[in-house]
Amino acid sequence: MLSFSLFLYVGSVAAESGIDAWLRYAPLHSANSIPSLPSRIVSLNTSVNDPVHIAGVELQKGISGILGQNLSITSHEADSDSSIVVGTLIEYSNAYGHSAKTPSLEADGFWLNTTGPTVQILGQNERGALYGAFEYLSMLAQGNFSKVAYASNPSAPVRWVNQWDNLDGSIERGYGGPSIFFENGLVVDNLDRASEYARLLASIRINAVVVNNVNANASLLSPANLEGLGRLADAMRPYGVQVGISLNFASPAANLTYGNLTTFDPLDKGVISWWSNVTDAIYRRVPDMAGYLVKADSEGQPGPLTYNRTLAQGANLFANALKPHGGILMFRAFVYNDQINESDWKADRANAAVDFFKGLDGEFADNVIVQIKYGPIDFQVREPTSPLFAHLQNTSTAIELEVTQEYLGQQCHLVYLPPLWKTVLDFDLRVDHKPSLVRDIITGKRFNRPLGGSAAVVNVGTNQTWLGSHLSMSNLYAYGRLAWNPADDPEAMLQDWIRLTFGPDPTVMKTITSLSMASWPTYENYSGNLGIQTLTDILYTHFGPNPQSQDNNGWGQWTRADHKTIGMDRTVSNGTGYSGQYPAEVAAMYENISTTPDNLVLWFHHVNYTHKLHSGKTVIQHFYDAHYEGADVAQTFVTQWEGLQGKIDEERYNETLFRLTFQAGHSIVWRDAIANFYHNLSGIADAGGRVGNHPWRIQAESMTLDGYVPYAVSPFEAASNATGIVTSSNSTTGTASTTLNFPNGTYDLAVNYFDMMGGNSSWTVSINNHTVGSWLGDNVDSGRLGHAASVYLDAHSATRITFRNVTIAKGDVLIIVGTPDGIEPAPLDYIAILPKGVVD
Ligand SMILES: *[C@@H]1O[C@H](CO)[C@@H](O)[C@H](O)[C@H]1NC(C)=O
Ligand SMILES: *[C@@H]1O[C@H](CO)[C@@H](O)[C@H](O)[C@H]1NC(C)=O
Ligand SMILES: *[C@@H]1O[C@H](CO)[C@@H](O)[C@H](O)[C@H]1NC(C)=O
Ligand SMILES: *[C@@H]1O[C@H](CO)[C@@H](O)[C@H](O)[C@H]1NC(C)=O
Ligand SMILES: *[C@@H]1O[C@H](CO)[C@@H](O)[C@H](O)[C@H]1NC(C)=O
Ligand SMILES: *[C@@H]1O[C@H](CO)[C@@H](O)[C@H](O)[C@H]1NC(C)=O
Ligand SMILES: *[C@@H]1O[C@H](CO)[C@@H](O)[C@H](O)[C@H]1NC(C)=O
Ligand SMILES: *[C@@H]1O[C@H](CO)[C@@H](O)[C@H](O)[C@H]1NC(C)=O
Ligand SMILES: *[C@@H]1O[C@H](CO)[C@@H](O)[C@H](O)[C@H]1NC(C)=O
Ligand SMILES: *[C@@H]1O[C@H](CO)[C@@H](O)[C@H](O)[C@H]1NC(C)=O
Ligand SMILES: *[C@@H]1O[C@H](CO)[C@@H](O)[C@H](O)[C@H]1NC(C)=O
Ligand SMILES: *[C@@H]1O[C@H](CO)[C@@H](O)[C@H](O)[C@H]1NC(C)=O
Repeated sequence: MLSFSLFLYVGSVAAESGIDAWLRYAPLHSANSIPSLPSRIVSLNTSVNDPVHIAGVELQKGISGILGQNLSITSHEADSDSSIVVGTLIEYSNAYGHSAKTPSLEADGFWLNTTGPTVQILGQNERGALYGAFEYLSMLAQGNFSKVAYASNPSAPVRWVNQWDNLDGSIERGYGGPSIFFENGLVVDNLDRASEYARLLASIRINAVVVNNVNANASLLSPANLEGLGRLADAMRPYGVQVGISLNFASPAANLTYGNLTTFDPLDKGVISWWSNVTDAIYRRVPDMAGYLVKADSEGQPGPLTYNRTLAQGANLFANALKPHGGILMFRAFVYNDQINESDWKADRANAAVDFFKGLDGEFADNVIVQIKYGPIDFQVREPTSPLFAHLQNTSTAIELEVTQEYLGQQCHLVYLPPLWKTVLDFDLRVDHKPSLVRDIITGKRFNRPLGGSAAVVNVGTNQTWLGSHLSMSNLYAYGRLAWNPADDPEAMLQDWIRLTFGPDPTVMKTITSLSMASWPTYENYSGNLGIQTLTDILYTHFGPNPQSQDNNGWGQWTRADHKTIGMDRTVSNGTGYSGQYPAEVAAMYENISTTPDNLVLWFHHVNYTHKLHSGKTVIQHFYDAHYEGADVAQTFVTQWEGLQGKIDEERYNETLFRLTFQAGHSIVWRDAIANFYHNLSGIADAGGRVGNHPWRIQAESMTLDGYVPYAVSPFEAASNATGIVTSSNSTTGTASTTLNFPNGTYDLAVNYFDMMGGNSSWTVSINNHTVGSWLGDNVDSGRLGHAASVYLDAHSATRITFRNVTIAKGDVLIIVGTPDGIEPAPLDYIAILPKGVVD
């Protein structure tokens, strides 16, 4: 139906910072004449802070950018005019004296009709009109001039994002710089970025932002911050984006001037009155506040269980305070005991949400939505669908997704997430043996609930790219699209985003589609396979690999790996009973290993490493093969991207190349860490002979060292041969030299080093006294990569730099000189001399 082929495009060469995201309105260059649009915009509301007015301004700006046509804006239509009319249905009928002939629209829905001389963009409400304007602009920006007339309605009323911003300006799990909302305990003075964010969100039909961290600080409720929230809400309101806030359950007893009760018992009259007063005060300043988000009795946060009250009683405390104002309470289902005992074979954190919430179905007030993470643990690279979606039939629910890539490479690895999200949204829970897709549960259709929807943790920051990475923005774009229509197709959404973000050059389209669609399977391949979870370090950064951090602690993300076996026995027959939390048909599938899909086998079953998968491979060989395949594919991301040089602006080209190059190097760190760890544990050799065999490497510790000393890296698998080198003190320059014994030829020279927080060491590598290259270990200290940094030599700091096409002769002397800085002792792991096409 869409026809793009008529138009030719010229890539924009001007540097782009990424701040405009998918709203660039880049000029369309057409081979044929561009159809002429109406000459004016009729905006049926002229109040400057009204989304309808904003829609008119946005249409004017967009059409000017895309088509170079400057349209005037008026507030009413003269007879016989052709125009672009934007407004609400009511405004339309007031202006024209008759109602528009549109199909029925739901709240936030819109009607777009381009078939006649006048383009109609009509919203059921103001926000819907703005959504319609963005839809029309998206078509034009993609060169799509089809004649269309259709209504679009949201799948669900709640389409929110959660920002985990702290009042001091830091962001928990944020990788795109500090907060755009807060600094020094207060709302920032300049809210331009907040408005720009609201504009971006409106363009993907997100209708609310919870602005502060779920691990909430009670001082958000101070008079100064309520005033600040008021300003924030004012800044976002013109875009139809409402503000919500996260609350600390213990606020009434926070011992501050604004919370000086001695209890936070949800049934205490004083507490009830306190919350009701606070809520009234907030609504006095923010009359359209969306509602509250509460993380209670979770990971050390206070909650109703302190007083032996139920989670429903805790939730209803807030719901009742919100009710007179029309607000919604989002109550997180992420409640679990983080002190469970691994020696108990039946203990299982995955059981927690259903255990806590199942008995409460029907006890929540009708303006409560239980916000459920997609899987039962915590945003892992693959999880089965949370079974709680099947249990809350008399309670509204929303799915919680994560755009910020906490366990998924922290925006330093490309991972396009919608294919992962779709494994959950499209999953059929078969409640009562009837079709029960998660997407129909959260939208309220399956159990006939009035409320429901989606929330995603987004965590944009002050970086001009918003998320720290240009390519990661496809996740935010697609999240909005899925919140509106969870049946939308991941590849189709991606391609719209590429056209809008980089233009429709066919090579650009093909390459970014290929990279992005391959990215999640690739990341899963080189991180955690077969449902074992991501295997990031769960006790420290959540960034690089650390498989043993999963076990021997109370967090319950166990793998139960020993020298013979691996996996969690979650069967009813002999394990934790988790599989029995699903409706019968799904439970039966997971209970039986022969009907459990390979990609979740270790989630549900405890097996020998030699267990044969449906694929015919053993578990351990699958681990090895997947890791080698994943790292191999990650190398191609760099070469594929290089094919785009000159086809997109240099700024975004360079910054993305830098990240994909980092990812390619770090994928080898991942591959080796996981493969070596399980090789060491199981003692089972890789049938491919690759694990532990690195013919093209020279271990730094085996070089001739002067001022450098060997260093035993922990965990051992984070370094090649478990050993790196560091300068003998932080004021000594180190030299490592070796005579090369490879056949004469041209090679890529890779150096694996550690880029720690707390110093910017420098290195120079030379061959026969000719400098090959110099570099600074400043990626983490400068914030350039943005991921959680480490102060150790480990798999988070492990980094590779590659010098291409280096001529090497047998007998050449290679020398690396390292100069430490701060606490970073110019650490090195190994050198790899790589013939073309070899990954080692
Ligand atoms: C679309 O808009 C035109 C005016 O440009 C109007 O004549 C036509 O009836 C509209 N189509 C529908 C289906 O409402
Ligand atoms: C909390 O308030 C009580 C009563 O006013 C006071 O005795 C106590 O010292 C306060 N605690 C803190 C940590 O401020
Ligand atoms: C806090 O407690 C003090 C002393 O009991 C009281 O005077 C004051 O009004 C209280 N403040 C609020 C906000 O309730
Ligand atoms: C709530 O406000 C009412 C009316 O202003 C006041 O009487 C009451 O003490 C307040 N409750 C609390 C707990 O501050
Ligand atoms: C909560 O209940 C448990 C047992 O049911 C009891 O031991 C405990 O004292 C109660 N705690 C409170 C604060 O009432
Ligand atoms: C059954 O559970 C026990 C632990 O209670 C475990 O040692 C054993 O391996 C399990 N059996 C099977 C067949 O998984
Ligand atoms: C696992 O291997 C052991 C031998 O090490 C064997 O006795 C056991 O039957 C195997 N378990 C399964 C489920 O194949
Ligand atoms: C992009 O990188 C190239 C090669 O390093 C450099 O010459 C160019 O100046 C960079 N361009 C921008 C806009 O940063
Ligand atoms: C591996 O490290 C050990 C010390 O941990 C060292 O003795 C050995 O020589 C190293 N092997 C190579 C190949 O460098
Ligand atoms: C912002 O992101 C860009 C692109 O990834 C990166 O080059 C830059 O260093 C980042 N800056 C900060 C301050 O985070
Ligand atoms: C390798 O290169 C060196 C230096 O250029 C040269 O002396 C030597 O003959 C070459 N060896 C072979 C086998 O070509
Ligand atoms: C050098 O290292 C020592 C500890 O090893 C540390 O106390 C000192 O601060 C470091 N010096 C600098 C300049 O960071």
